[in-house]
Amino acid sequence: MREILSGNISRYRKSLGFTQEALADKLGVTFQAVSKWETGQTVPDTVLLPDLARTLGVSVDKLLGYAAFSGETSFYEEDYRKDEYFWGVTPSDMCLKVLELLPPERPLKLLDIGCGEGKDAVFFARCGYEVSAFDISEAGLGKAKRFAEKARVPVRIFRANLWDYRLTERYDVLYSSGVLHYIKPELRDEIMGNYKLHVNEGGLAAFHVFVEKPLIPPAPDDSSHYLWKSGQLFTYFHDWTIEHCSEYQFDCNSSGIPHRHAANRLLARNTGLVL
Ligand SMILES: C[S@@+](CC[C@H](N)C(=O)[O-])C[C@H]1O[C@@H](n2cnc3c(N)ncnc32)[C@H](O)[C@@H]1O
Repeated sequence: MREILSGNISRYRKSLGFTQEALADKLGVTFQAVSKWETGQTVPDTVLLPDLARTLGVSVDKLLGYAAFSGETSFYEEDYRKDEYFWGVTPSDMCLKVLELLPPERPLKLLDIGCGEGKDAVFFARCGYEVSAFDISEAGLGKAKRFAEKARVPVRIFRANLWDYRLTERYDVLYSSGVLHYIKPELRDEIMGNYKLHVNEGGLAAFHVFVEKPLIPPAPDDSSHYLWKSGQLFTYFHDWTIEHCSEYQFDCNSSGIPHRHAANRLLARNTGLVL
């Protein structure tokens, strides 16, 4: 918790353009105190937390990193309320792999799980897939809708929480980029089982998840909460054809603080074998 809090203070302070001195002045503390909070040497006094959160424009829950744990709100809700696209509008590389492996030469149904502001969902719709997409963030979904309207493509967008939403219809492609680490580990088997049962024969699961690596320190954003074990994602698809699986590391600045992630990427095809 201490690491998340220190990262968040620094992140929100920088996003508002405050120096440590400016934040310290607003709170009536010394800039050394702010510096120590941000390096994790000390934590702010509890009585200061409401003021600190208000000054940084976030809730106390979010400042402490609890917002995402509740599973009811998105860590990115406030970022998504801004006009600019937090994740940009360029589709992720994994979209191209889907396109290569299962081009929409016939009507293909695709579900984007945790679509955020819709950059990948809109790309797929532009390519001709019949796209549905969900996320927990109202602000993200609003932006995804506007993005689809602007691109003049149909995307069925709905709000759902990964934790309790289960698929009841089949898709040709289940796609999810940077989202499945929000699933609580105790729900993983059940949810992955549900997902696998809802991919048509010949269809694909294309998933990108953050994984734990001993040499990479926890990220200052909320991506570290339920990291997968390295390689764990692949094991769920041992009875499908693995079209692609890889592990890689990359630098990220999404929180305003440079950090590194490790991730696994999987594209697996349901070849219809029932064991
Ligand atoms: C790292 S972002 C990725 C967004 C998008 N896939 C992209 O690549 O641009 C993670 C997304 O997961 C969503 N999310 C987090 N917890 C969720 C939950 N319990 N149910 C549904 N979506 C969730 C967040 O709102 C956020 O949009």
